[in-house]
Amino acid sequence: MKVQTKQKITSPVGRTGLDVKKIRKDFPILTRDIRGKKLIYLDSAATSQKPQPIIDAISAHYSQHNANVHRGVHKLTEEATEDYEAARKKVANFVNAGDSRQIIFVRNATEAINLVAYSWARNNIKKGDEILLTQMEHHSNLVPWLQLAKEAGVKLKFIPVNSDGLLELNKLEYLITTKTKLVSFLHVSNVLGTINPVKQMVERIRKLNPNIKILIDGAQAVPHMPISLQHIKPDFYAFTGHKMLGPSGIGVLYAKKELLEEMDPFIYGGDMILRVSFEKASWNYIPWKFEAGTPNIEGAIGLGAAVDYLSAIGMKNVREYERELTQYALQKLSNINNLEIYGPKDVYKRAGVISFNIVKKPFRFDSKQVSKIAIHPHDLVSILDAEGIEARSGRLCAEPLLNIFKAEAAARISFHIYNTKEEIDALIPAIEKAKSIFKIG
Ligand code: ALA
Repeated sequence: MKVQTKQKITSPVGRTGLDVKKIRKDFPILTRDIRGKKLIYLDSAATSQKPQPIIDAISAHYSQHNANVHRGVHKLTEEATEDYEAARKKVANFVNAGDSRQIIFVRNATEAINLVAYSWARNNIKKGDEILLTQMEHHSNLVPWLQLAKEAGVKLKFIPVNSDGLLELNKLEYLITTKTKLVSFLHVSNVLGTINPVKQMVERIRKLNPNIKILIDGAQAVPHMPISLQHIKPDFYAFTGHKMLGPSGIGVLYAKKELLEEMDPFIYGGDMILRVSFEKASWNYIPWKFEAGTPNIEGAIGLGAAVDYLSAIGMKNVREYERELTQYALQKLSNINNLEIYGPKDVYKRAGVISFNIVKKPFRFDSKQVSKIAIHPHDLVSILDAEGIEARSGRLCAEPLLNIFKAEAAARISFHIYNTKEEIDALIPAIEKAKSIFKIG
């Protein structure tokens, strides 16, 4: 694969001038060994590692301020509520949402998308209507819509992906009709690394049919690049805390205020109500209308700390550093024979996610050769694991997408701010070792 770049790789630290050595010291897990080797963590698209300030923020909540939120009048509940609501404001600023009432805390991006599917889509999309998705969706932005299609007779359509891992956006005019009620697409692909031009997509979709609602899955984007929701202007935007150095079990749904006002709650119970009698109940104001039951208080506070941490580094710097790492890794990997990389060649169109396979060459599909994969990704990644390198393998929560690339599974490496070029240097001989064990190339 020839890597397209506009600039040459510069110093090991890179143009951002980030002190990655210093940053790494914030991540306690990076000092541990894996099977007697130094840990090299290359699976941040699955979940990121956590720096000490985030661990400390969660610990401080439990050891100093723990109480339930929005309940009662005692000092501790006041402190916990203040910290929880301060985290919402931090998150709103981080993605330039405008108004923190548009930030709903949920468990993860999957739950955010399900909230839209249950609270908005089931009331607004009917039999015969259409939902437009893309072929590169994570299962989290496909399965909820498959379920709605099954229940309500809604038709799903898909924007195709080309062999470079880019969306065929010239098909938008033909795919969008008067029946289209929702267009939903990911911002960054967890398999191909593709960064979709979401701002232009939103503008084009609105031009074609201004009544369409637009949902963006930002799970792999918010942790890695500056995001301004007031600039992109989606109706809904979903993301999750655990991929952005924050804790698990806390995610975010952003939505336009008028939509949140008109939508029914998703989950019913305590805290999401204003008044309750034995006959009826009325709903709390947004955002609390959508946060029934005791929320993940420590998760939200940890996410607020993650936002502080990333903001101090600067999201432009995070993006630039990861782009350099990606460029470096693509160049190194493309020198390995029989290694097939999925996704765009242009590092300005892709984030720090690289999926690949060791393939048979030459390969023709016939009755004897049903798969082009020469080393199953689980075997490959197990050999990497023995070298202390933690990568991901399998269907990557995007089975239909991998099928398009004639791959039943793939290996994947993915970066965050703590990864280094030295780690990529160590990956290459580990892949070569796997190839020699399997006598490939
Ligand atoms: N969505 C996560 C991944 O791609 C779990 O690994």
